[in-house]
Amino acid sequence: MNEHPSGFDHDYLAEAATLLAHDEPFPGGAVVPPIYQTSLFTFASYAEMADTFAGKRKQPIYSRGDNPTVMEFEARVAALEGAEAARGFSSGMAAISATVLAFVGAGERIVAVRNCYGDAYRLFERLLPRLNIKVDYVDGSDPDAVAAALPGAKLLYLESPTSMMFELQDIAHLTRLAKEQGIVTTIDNSWATPVFQKPITHGVDRVLHSASKYLGGHSDTVAGVVAGSAAHIKHINEQT
Ligand SMILES: Cc1ncc(COP(=O)(O)O)c(C=O)c1O
Repeated sequence: MNEHPSGFDHDYLAEAATLLAHDEPFPGGAVVPPIYQTSLFTFASYAEMADTFAGKRKQPIYSRGDNPTVMEFEARVAALEGAEAARGFSSGMAAISATVLAFVGAGERIVAVRNCYGDAYRLFERLLPRLNIKVDYVDGSDPDAVAAALPGAKLLYLESPTSMMFELQDIAHLTRLAKEQGIVTTIDNSWATPVFQKPITHGVDRVLHSASKYLGGHSDTVAGVVAGSAAHIKHINEQT
Protein backbone atom coordinates (compact mmCIF):
# COMPACT_ATOMS: atom_id res chain seq x y z
CA MET A 1 0.00 0.00 0.00
CA ASN A 2 1.39 3.39 -0.95
CA GLU A 3 1.26 6.26 1.46
CA HIS A 4 -1.17 8.80 0.08
CA PRO A 5 -0.58 12.52 0.74
CA SER A 6 -4.16 12.78 2.04
CA GLY A 7 -3.04 10.80 5.08
CA PHE A 8 -5.74 8.13 4.58
CA ASP A 9 -4.56 4.68 5.63
CA HIS A 10 -5.94 3.19 2.44
CA ASP A 11 -5.05 4.11 -1.10
CA TYR A 12 -8.55 4.97 -2.27
CA LEU A 13 -7.32 6.71 -5.38
CA ALA A 14 -5.26 3.69 -6.49
CA GLU A 15 -8.28 1.45 -5.91
CA ALA A 16 -10.45 3.73 -8.07
CA ALA A 17 -7.77 3.92 -10.75
CA THR A 18 -7.70 0.10 -10.88
CA LEU A 19 -11.47 -0.03 -11.29
CA LEU A 20 -11.28 2.53 -14.09
CA ALA A 21 -8.40 0.88 -15.92
CA HIS A 22 -9.16 -0.82 -19.20
CA ASP A 23 -6.92 -3.28 -20.96
CA GLU A 24 -8.56 -3.44 -24.36
CA PRO A 25 -8.29 -0.68 -26.93
CA PHE A 26 -11.47 1.07 -27.97
CA PRO A 27 -12.82 0.87 -31.55
CA GLY A 28 -10.27 1.84 -34.15
CA GLY A 29 -7.50 1.14 -31.64
CA ALA A 30 -8.31 4.31 -29.67
CA VAL A 31 -6.53 4.38 -26.32
CA VAL A 32 -9.19 6.54 -24.63
CA PRO A 33 -12.94 6.15 -25.21
CA PRO A 34 -13.89 8.04 -28.38
CA ILE A 35 -16.57 10.70 -28.15
CA TYR A 36 -19.49 9.59 -30.33
CA GLN A 37 -20.84 12.98 -31.33
CA THR A 38 -23.95 11.74 -33.09
CA SER A 39 -27.64 11.86 -32.30
CA LEU A 40 -28.70 8.93 -34.47
CA PHE A 41 -27.15 5.57 -35.32
CA THR A 42 -27.67 3.75 -38.58
CA PHE A 43 -27.90 0.07 -39.47
CA ALA A 44 -26.26 -2.19 -42.06
CA SER A 45 -29.65 -3.50 -43.15
CA TYR A 46 -33.38 -3.11 -42.58
CA ALA A 47 -33.36 -6.52 -40.84
CA GLU A 48 -30.74 -5.27 -38.33
CA MET A 49 -32.85 -2.21 -37.63
CA ALA A 50 -36.01 -4.26 -37.19
CA ASP A 51 -34.22 -6.70 -34.85
CA THR A 52 -32.77 -3.81 -32.82
CA PHE A 53 -36.18 -2.16 -32.43
CA ALA A 54 -37.63 -5.56 -31.46
CA GLY A 55 -34.95 -5.93 -28.76
CA LYS A 56 -33.40 -9.00 -30.42
CA ARG A 57 -30.01 -7.34 -30.77
CA LYS A 58 -28.38 -4.47 -28.89
CA GLN A 59 -27.15 -1.39 -30.65
CA PRO A 60 -27.57 2.29 -29.85
CA ILE A 61 -30.42 3.84 -31.83
CA TYR A 62 -30.60 7.43 -30.59
CA SER A 63 -28.22 9.19 -28.20
CA ARG A 64 -30.87 10.26 -25.71
CA GLY A 65 -31.43 6.55 -25.21
CA ASP A 66 -27.95 5.10 -25.62
CA ASN A 67 -24.63 6.43 -26.83
CA PRO A 68 -21.37 4.43 -26.62
CA THR A 69 -19.48 7.26 -24.90
CA VAL A 70 -22.20 7.63 -22.28
CA MET A 71 -22.49 3.84 -21.92
CA GLU A 72 -18.75 3.69 -21.14
CA PHE A 73 -19.24 6.41 -18.52
CA GLU A 74 -22.22 4.53 -17.05
CA ALA A 75 -20.25 1.28 -16.81
CA ARG A 76 -17.35 3.05 -15.07
CA VAL A 77 -19.57 4.80 -12.54
CA ALA A 78 -21.39 1.52 -11.81
CA ALA A 79 -18.01 -0.14 -11.19
CA LEU A 80 -16.84 2.67 -8.91
CA GLU A 81 -20.07 2.65 -6.90
CA GLY A 82 -20.26 -1.15 -6.72
CA ALA A 83 -23.62 -0.99 -8.50
CA GLU A 84 -25.12 -3.33 -11.09
CA ALA A 85 -25.93 -0.52 -13.50
CA ALA A 86 -25.92 3.24 -13.97
CA ARG A 87 -27.70 5.79 -16.12
CA GLY A 88 -26.13 9.00 -17.39
CA PHE A 89 -28.02 12.31 -17.61
CA SER A 90 -27.39 15.73 -19.09
CA SER A 91 -27.01 17.22 -15.58
CA GLY A 92 -27.07 16.28 -11.93
CA MET A 93 -30.48 17.91 -11.60
CA ALA A 94 -31.77 15.78 -14.48
CA ALA A 95 -30.55 12.69 -12.60
CA ILE A 96 -32.20 13.87 -9.36
CA SER A 97 -35.49 14.81 -11.06
CA ALA A 98 -35.74 11.58 -13.06
CA THR A 99 -34.80 9.38 -10.11
CA VAL A 100 -37.25 11.00 -7.72
CA LEU A 101 -40.11 11.17 -10.23
CA ALA A 102 -39.58 7.55 -11.34
CA PHE A 103 -40.22 6.27 -7.84
CA VAL A 104 -42.59 8.74 -6.15
CA GLY A 105 -46.10 9.53 -7.32
CA ALA A 106 -49.02 11.81 -6.50
CA GLY A 107 -50.13 11.62 -2.89
CA GLU A 108 -46.83 10.13 -1.71
CA ARG A 109 -44.26 11.58 0.67
CA ILE A 110 -40.48 11.96 0.71
CA VAL A 111 -38.28 12.36 3.78
CA ALA A 112 -35.22 14.41 2.82
CA VAL A 113 -32.23 15.65 4.75
CA ARG A 114 -32.25 19.34 5.51
CA ASN A 115 -29.57 21.33 3.67
CA CYS A 116 -29.71 19.11 0.60
CA TYR A 117 -28.47 20.77 -2.61
CA GLY A 118 -30.36 24.03 -3.26
CA ASP A 119 -31.87 23.15 -6.63
CA ALA A 120 -32.97 19.75 -5.33
CA TYR A 121 -34.70 21.68 -2.55
CA ARG A 122 -36.33 23.95 -5.17
CA LEU A 123 -37.54 20.86 -7.07
CA PHE A 124 -38.96 19.49 -3.83
CA GLU A 125 -40.59 22.78 -2.83
CA ARG A 126 -41.83 24.13 -6.17
CA LEU A 127 -42.50 21.30 -8.61
CA LEU A 128 -43.34 18.36 -6.38
CA PRO A 129 -46.20 20.07 -4.47
CA ARG A 130 -47.85 20.73 -7.86
CA LEU A 131 -47.80 16.95 -8.33
CA ASN A 132 -49.20 16.43 -4.83
CA ILE A 133 -45.92 15.06 -3.53
CA LYS A 134 -44.92 16.25 -0.07
CA VAL A 135 -41.36 16.51 1.26
CA ASP A 136 -40.53 16.59 4.97
CA TYR A 137 -37.03 17.61 6.03
CA VAL A 138 -35.05 16.07 8.86
CA ASP A 139 -31.71 16.50 10.57
CA GLY A 140 -30.01 13.48 9.00
CA SER A 141 -27.44 13.36 11.79
CA ASP A 142 -30.26 12.49 14.22
CA PRO A 143 -31.44 8.89 13.56
CA ASP A 144 -34.32 9.29 16.04
CA ALA A 145 -35.65 12.27 14.07
CA VAL A 146 -35.36 10.29 10.84
CA ALA A 147 -37.09 7.27 12.41
CA ALA A 148 -39.93 9.50 13.61
CA ALA A 149 -40.42 11.02 10.14
CA LEU A 150 -40.23 7.78 8.12
CA PRO A 151 -43.59 6.05 8.69
CA GLY A 152 -45.68 6.27 5.54
CA ALA A 153 -42.89 7.76 3.39
CA LYS A 154 -42.08 6.41 -0.07
CA LEU A 155 -38.49 7.60 -0.31
CA LEU A 156 -35.67 8.59 2.03
CA TYR A 157 -33.49 11.16 0.25
CA LEU A 158 -29.99 11.54 1.69
CA GLU A 159 -27.01 13.74 0.86
CA SER A 160 -23.92 13.11 2.95
CA PRO A 161 -22.16 15.41 3.42
CA THR A 162 -24.93 17.95 2.77
CA SER A 163 -24.33 20.92 0.52
CA MET A 164 -22.43 23.78 2.13
CA MET A 165 -23.28 22.74 5.71
CA PHE A 166 -21.44 19.40 5.33
CA GLU A 167 -23.68 17.60 7.79
CA LEU A 168 -22.99 13.86 7.84
CA GLN A 169 -25.39 10.96 8.11
CA ASP A 170 -24.88 7.44 9.41
CA ILE A 171 -25.83 5.99 6.04
CA ALA A 172 -25.97 2.32 7.10
CA HIS A 173 -28.13 3.13 10.12
CA LEU A 174 -30.61 5.32 8.24
CA THR A 175 -30.82 2.86 5.35
CA ARG A 176 -31.61 0.08 7.81
CA LEU A 177 -34.37 2.17 9.40
CA ALA A 178 -35.87 2.82 5.95
CA LYS A 179 -35.60 -0.81 4.84
CA GLU A 180 -37.41 -1.99 7.97
CA GLN A 181 -40.41 -0.05 6.67
CA GLY A 182 -40.01 -0.96 2.99
CA ILE A 183 -38.84 2.55 2.10
CA VAL A 184 -36.23 2.95 -0.64
CA THR A 185 -33.24 5.24 -0.25
CA THR A 186 -31.49 7.57 -2.65
CA ILE A 187 -28.32 9.49 -1.87
CA ASP A 188 -26.57 12.37 -3.57
CA ASN A 189 -22.91 11.29 -3.37
CA SER A 190 -21.50 14.25 -5.35
CA TRP A 191 -19.47 15.65 -2.48
CA ALA A 192 -17.79 12.48 -1.22
CA THR A 193 -17.45 10.74 -4.62
CA PRO A 194 -17.26 6.94 -4.86
CA VAL A 195 -13.54 7.23 -4.14
CA PHE A 196 -14.25 8.07 -0.51
CA GLN A 197 -17.80 6.78 0.03
CA LYS A 198 -19.67 3.88 -1.57
CA PRO A 199 -23.22 4.17 -0.24
CA ILE A 200 -24.40 0.96 -1.92
CA THR A 201 -22.08 -0.97 0.40
CA HIS A 202 -24.06 0.64 3.26
CA GLY A 203 -27.41 -0.51 1.85
CA VAL A 204 -28.48 2.54 -0.17
CA ASP A 205 -30.66 1.65 -3.18
CA ARG A 206 -29.66 4.42 -5.61
CA VAL A 207 -26.64 6.71 -5.66
CA LEU A 208 -26.67 9.83 -7.78
CA HIS A 209 -24.15 12.46 -8.72
CA SER A 210 -23.73 15.83 -10.22
CA ALA A 211 -20.96 14.58 -12.54
CA SER A 212 -20.33 18.27 -13.23
CA LYS A 213 -18.39 18.27 -9.95
CA TYR A 214 -15.68 15.88 -8.80
CA LEU A 215 -16.56 13.07 -11.25
CA GLY A 216 -15.97 15.45 -14.16
CA GLY A 217 -13.12 16.98 -12.26
CA HIS A 218 -12.16 19.79 -14.61
CA SER A 219 -15.19 22.14 -14.66
CA ASP A 220 -15.52 21.44 -18.38
CA THR A 221 -18.76 19.45 -18.46
CA VAL A 222 -22.28 19.37 -17.06
CA ALA A 223 -23.57 15.84 -16.49
CA GLY A 224 -25.35 13.61 -14.01
CA VAL A 225 -25.62 9.93 -13.22
CA VAL A 226 -27.55 7.53 -11.03
CA ALA A 227 -26.30 4.06 -10.09
CA GLY A 228 -28.17 1.18 -8.50
CA SER A 229 -29.61 -2.25 -9.16
CA ALA A 230 -30.26 -3.22 -12.78
CA ALA A 231 -33.99 -3.35 -11.97
CA HIS A 232 -34.03 0.20 -10.56
CA ILE A 233 -32.06 1.62 -13.49
CA LYS A 234 -34.39 -0.18 -15.93
CA HIS A 235 -37.36 1.34 -14.09
CA ILE A 236 -35.87 4.84 -14.37
CA ASN A 237 -35.26 4.28 -18.10
CA GLU A 238 -38.81 3.13 -18.64
CA GLN A 239 -40.41 5.90 -16.60
CA THR A 240 -38.53 8.95 -17.82
C1 LIG B 1 -24.37 18.18 -4.32
C2 LIG B 1 -24.94 18.56 -5.63
N1 LIG B 1 -25.94 17.84 -6.14
C3 LIG B 1 -26.51 18.13 -7.34
C4 LIG B 1 -26.09 19.21 -8.07
C5 LIG B 1 -26.76 19.50 -9.38
O1 LIG B 1 -25.94 19.12 -10.42
P1 LIG B 1 -25.89 19.85 -11.85
O2 LIG B 1 -25.40 21.24 -11.62
O3 LIG B 1 -24.95 19.00 -12.65
O4 LIG B 1 -27.30 19.82 -12.38
C6 LIG B 1 -25.02 19.98 -7.60
C7 LIG B 1 -24.52 21.13 -8.39
O5 LIG B 1 -23.85 22.01 -7.89
C8 LIG B 1 -24.44 19.66 -6.36
O6 LIG B 1 -23.42 20.38 -5.84
